Amino acid sequence: MKKYVMALDQGTTSCRAILFDKESKIVGVTQKEFTQIYPKAGWVEHDADEIWSTQYGVIAELIAKTGIKVDEIASIGITNQRETTVVWDKNTGKPVYNAIVWQCRRTTTICDDLKAKGYEDVVREKTGLVVDAYFSGTKVKWILDNVEGARAKAEKGELLFGTTDTWLIWKLTGGKVHVTDYSNASRTMMFNIRELHWDKELLEMLDVPQKMLPEVRNSSEVYGNTDAGVFLGFEVPIAGVAGDQQAALFGQACYEPGDAKNTYGTGCFMLMNTGSKIYTSKHGLLTTIAWGIDGKVEYALEGSTFIAGAAIQWLRDGLKIIDVAPDSEYYAKKVKDSDGVYFVPAFVGLGAPYWDMRARGGIFGLTRGTTKYHIIRAALDSLAYQTKDVLGSMEADSGISLKSLRVDGGAVANNLLMQFQADILGTRVDRPEIIETTALGAAYLAGLAVGFWKSKEELASRWLLDRRFEPDMEEEKKAKLYKGWLKAVERTKDWED
Ligand code: G3P
Repeated sequence: MKKYVMALDQGTTSCRAILFDKESKIVGVTQKEFTQIYPKAGWVEHDADEIWSTQYGVIAELIAKTGIKVDEIASIGITNQRETTVVWDKNTGKPVYNAIVWQCRRTTTICDDLKAKGYEDVVREKTGLVVDAYFSGTKVKWILDNVEGARAKAEKGELLFGTTDTWLIWKLTGGKVHVTDYSNASRTMMFNIRELHWDKELLEMLDVPQKMLPEVRNSSEVYGNTDAGVFLGFEVPIAGVAGDQQAALFGQACYEPGDAKNTYGTGCFMLMNTGSKIYTSKHGLLTTIAWGIDGKVEYALEGSTFIAGAAIQWLRDGLKIIDVAPDSEYYAKKVKDSDGVYFVPAFVGLGAPYWDMRARGGIFGLTRGTTKYHIIRAALDSLAYQTKDVLGSMEADSGISLKSLRVDGGAVANNLLMQFQADILGTRVDRPEIIETTALGAAYLAGLAVGFWKSKEELASRWLLDRRFEPDMEEEKKAKLYKGWLKAVERTKDWED
């Protein structure tokens, strides 16, 4: 008897494994952080083998901790940090280079070159993306151009490319299955989101051989079984895949056009379901594939902010002014506001709606009276301001004025931040009972594919409100605070040569 669905959440800073039961309740969670590699300013890498061993470790730990039997798992759903690029040798299974992380800016000049050659319009039209180092395409090109022998091997069909969903599926199936889903493919800058195939012109633009690309499949279907030799002696169907932000949209039950969510993870990502309609943003947002189910693809508008929770992590690991991330709320509450201090965490440039690859972070408005509490407060505030930046664009692009915003991710446990978010947006902020929405979405996709759950309607009825934050700030104060933020953002732009 199948009792559970397991979600694997391969995020930017950690790997998690989460077990859900039929009532969508969490039965167990395990999590482990892995190494962040910063070889140069603005460069970010991961060791793909470490990602695999960390992911495998949390799976084994979850089984041991919950005491469940592996054959009680109906299916596995995978959700992942998107765009992060792994290239490996299909014969040896070894990555030819570290994974180049979505935040990595090393391909800025490749992007400059593509823009100079006039590719911006074609990229926007075919992929819904802007030309930016964020996406996988230029990262693959960089590996093929810079790793000795890589291009020749890729042309002979000996190398495979994948985002980390693809990498994990390949590992879990013992190297038998090389696939991704529509939502992840739509982040590569190589996939045509209108015609739903790898695009020849874009592959030529980037000089990437098509034979190294995975097959693109639905977000909810059986791709293959785990290899018993690899997966604790059992063959379990892998039946759901979505990029983490799209999975969160699914887990938040944003199934109707106009439904929107904001996830506070390493970065902050707001997505609005637009159904079968492809909106082309005029305000710096991306158009992306939300998911593909039964061959039908739905789209979303996305506002991507690169650094959110990572700013809090930097207070912990870089500045060392907090010991653990949740302490940020305690310290921030020691002051009534940031006292005019603004923290723009443009550590890896600015994403939506600015798209400035050369911006770098800054803290502004410091005085002799500034304390670490003000800086911590300003760091939290920056998550709310960045969300406001993208919400404005989203309303302008879609013509829909949001009455409420569903939120999820670790930082939404912070009540101070959520209240400030509602205040600065002037919009209600709704926090659901399950804030592990990314994992939940992946589980839902995998559960639907094997009949563990029957329909999206059944899943939508499970969405329960934990707390609603009502906006409560005078217009004048709101406008003044936001003006200060915009001024600070301006000063971080075009910093790096
Ligand atoms: O596009 C990058 C995004 O998928 C990363 O998500 O949850 O690791 O911040 P997260």
